[in-house]
Amino acid sequence: MKDILTAPFLVEMVRTTTNMYAHGWDERNGGNISLRLDEKDVAEYVDVNKVLRVIPTGFSAPSLAGMYFLVTGTGKYFKNVQYDPARNLGLFRIAADGENAELLWGYSDGGQFTSELPAHLMSHVARLKVNPDNHVVMHCHPANLLAMTYVHDLDERAFTRTLWQMCTECIVVFPDGVNVLPWMLCGTNEIGIATAEKMETARLVVWSQHGIYGAGVDLDETFGLIETAEKAAEIYLKIAHLPLKNTITDDAMHQLEKRFNVKAREGYLD
Ligand code: 13P
Ligand code: ZN
Repeated sequence: MKDILTAPFLVEMVRTTTNMYAHGWDERNGGNISLRLDEKDVAEYVDVNKVLRVIPTGFSAPSLAGMYFLVTGTGKYFKNVQYDPARNLGLFRIAADGENAELLWGYSDGGQFTSELPAHLMSHVARLKVNPDNHVVMHCHPANLLAMTYVHDLDERAFTRTLWQMCTECIVVFPDGVNVLPWMLCGTNEIGIATAEKMETARLVVWSQHGIYGAGVDLDETFGLIETAEKAAEIYLKIAHLPLKNTITDDAMHQLEKRFNVKAREGYLD
C-alpha cells in the first residue's frame, strides 16, 4: 500500500485548501470541499475493506452508494490542512444503503465530515446527472460575492448579467451563469436540497449573506470558477457607487459566445 500523503488527489486537496485560505475565502473553519474519487485510485492507498467507523449522514443518497469521497472535516481550519491532513480530512465510501459514510482514512481525532455534507452530496447527485465527469463540490466565503448579496438584486438573471459585465472572460468561464439562494439556515438538509436543485442549471450557487458553492470536474476548474466570479464581484464593488460610463454590451457578449464557442444561459442575453 502506498503512502496516502503522496497520493495526487491528497496533494491537490492540500494545495487547494491552502490556496483558498491564502485568498481569504476560508476564515476560521469557513468553507468545505468534497472530492469524488475512483475506487481504483483509492485502493492504491487504503484498504477499502477496512472500515474504521460508520458515520450516519442524516439523509439518503442511493445513487451515490459505493462512491468514494475525500471531504474536509467539520470545524476544521483550511489553513491547518497542510500541517495535519489526517486530522482535517476524511476519506469515506457511501454505504450500500446510501445513508451511511464508511470511513476508510482520516478524521483522526474522532471528528467527522463537514456539517454541509447534505449540500455537497446532493449537489454531486445533481451535477453527475448533467456531467458524469463532475468530481468536485466546493464551498467558501469570498468577501466580494458575499458583500454583493447585500446590495444587489438577488434575481439570478440580473445577478449573472452584472457579473458577466464586470470582466470580459466571465461569460466564457461561466456561461451557465450563477444561481442564487436567499438566506437559509446552513448545515441542513433543506439548504442541501435547495442547493442541489440550483446545481441542475448552473455550476455556481450563491448563498446570500453566506458564501458560494461551485462544482466542477476537478479542483482546479472549480477553484477557477469561484475565483473568476469573485473577481467580477470585486470589480462590481469598486464601481457600483460611481457613475457608469461604459459596459460590456450584449452585442459584445454575443461576439464572445462565437469567439469562444460557448452558449450563454438561455434568455440571459438580449
Ligand atoms: P464546517 O466546519 O462544518 O465545514 O462548516 C463551515 C461552513 O462554511 C458552514 O457553512
Ligand atoms: Zn459556509
